[in-house]
Amino acid sequence: MLSPAAATQLAQAAPDGAAAYAQACAECHRTPARFMRRYLDMPPAERAAALDRFLPTHYAPDAAQRAAIVAWLMQYQPPR
Ligand code: HEC
Repeated sequence: MLSPAAATQLAQAAPDGAAAYAQACAECHRTPARFMRRYLDMPPAERAAALDRFLPTHYAPDAAQRAAIVAWLMQYQPPR
């Protein structure tokens, strides 16, 4: 369960995250669906940490941009 403050932070980061993703990632990953599959098996805290460990050397070197992208990816739900 997210605290209300954390949920608000995520919601505010999400539009920026979507834009940052479109700019930095979408060229190669049109959607996160494929690469998120293995991350979705992780508990959310571990998922965020794993993404934050991987992305500095994978097209998201800027901390603020990366935080926005990770927050946006954390809202990703697989299609049912
Ligand atoms: C120049 C092409 C390119 C760009 C730009 C790119 N990626 Fe990737 N990414 C790849 C390739 C190739 C792989 C490895 C093959 C795969 O898993 O689809 C990969 C793998 C990944 C993975 C899986 C890593 C793992 O642990 O298996 C994640 C997560 C990811 N990318 C996220 C991102 C995000 C977020 C961005 C934007 C900040 C991004 N990528 C930008 C090409 C790219």
